[in-house]
Amino acid sequence: MIEMWDDEKIHDFRQTLLSWYDEAGRNDLPWRQDHNPYRVWVSEIMLQQTQVNTVIPYFERFMDMFPTVADLAAAPEADILKAWEGLGYYSRVRNMQKAAQQIVNDYAGQWPTTMRTLQKLKGVGPYTAAAIASIAFNEPVAAIDGNAFRVFARLFEIDSDIAAPATRKEFFDLGNQLIDPERPGDFNQAIMDLGSSYMRAKNSDPAHSPVKAFDAAYQDGVTDLYPVKSKAKPAQKMAYAAIYLKSGQQVVWEQRPQDGLLANFWTFPLFKIDDFMNDPDIEWTDAELERALEKRLFQDYGVKAHLEKMPLKPITHVYTHQKWAVTVFAGEMDAPQPLRKGIWRTMQDTVKDPQPKIQEKIWRALD
Ligand code: ADE
Repeated sequence: MIEMWDDEKIHDFRQTLLSWYDEAGRNDLPWRQDHNPYRVWVSEIMLQQTQVNTVIPYFERFMDMFPTVADLAAAPEADILKAWEGLGYYSRVRNMQKAAQQIVNDYAGQWPTTMRTLQKLKGVGPYTAAAIASIAFNEPVAAIDGNAFRVFARLFEIDSDIAAPATRKEFFDLGNQLIDPERPGDFNQAIMDLGSSYMRAKNSDPAHSPVKAFDAAYQDGVTDLYPVKSKAKPAQKMAYAAIYLKSGQQVVWEQRPQDGLLANFWTFPLFKIDDFMNDPDIEWTDAELERALEKRLFQDYGVKAHLEKMPLKPITHVYTHQKWAVTVFAGEMDAPQPLRKGIWRTMQDTVKDPQPKIQEKIWRALD
């Protein structure tokens, strides 16, 4: 059970927090220049991917490319993927385009203005809806992200497991009692700023925090115990072979299917190695793997090539539920043979296509 503060303490907390925010908060952030819901929304989705300093240039570029929600709704998919390249988790930006189309087509270009109605937009969950409603429309609703979980858990020594879905409501109710009804957007952003500074997950500095007097975990010397979070199950390991098949300046280049992980992105041909190695009793040598891949390449792509494993460590990338380890196999042809799948593309031109992070890492390893 959370022991709630009395009204006077709540009032003091709001004042202390917001005075600090007015003085030391990051008012320079480009999405804090005005309270336009489109800008708030774009920034919030980007900030779910990565930290503030990384987001700034992405945000500026995105606004240059798609200055209004109508521009985003009408943009070619390849452009929006390109604008997102490097941020990862591309379903987010695809959903953003669908939400932009909802606003244009179903809402006559007018944003919904409440947390409840904002959640009807594709990809807008309770956190994003609360952030937009509070920052752009002054609705007093708490935006519960990782920062808010951590800050509130420490302030009140809350023992609930933040990985359990039911816990969100507990924190939301608490946040709604604490939030300043006059300045809900600033209150939410001040909590985020606390969570990324004095009350960080690692290297926190609660002794200098503006709200240390309200911080029960700090007062009791147990900051590191909060928030309480059970471990997620580890990502499934997946082994892939990437085929770097070259002829002069051209490579075989392939668009991935429109569903599933990395949908519609361009990569080298990728084979799941586990498919070849599903008998755990067989130890595969590199040469056996090379011959097996040559066979698969012929079956699927219709080209005969000699492949050799490159002397590189497997290239890894972690997705939400999978960890990929990609081994690169290279082959070279005198002339580009006709392909049953994929295309020949000059290496120069490949940069025009949206590429996932893993492919970027492969290029970098080949450099
Ligand atoms: N993290 C998520 N949303 C944020 C915001 N509006 N400002 C700073 N950090 C954030």
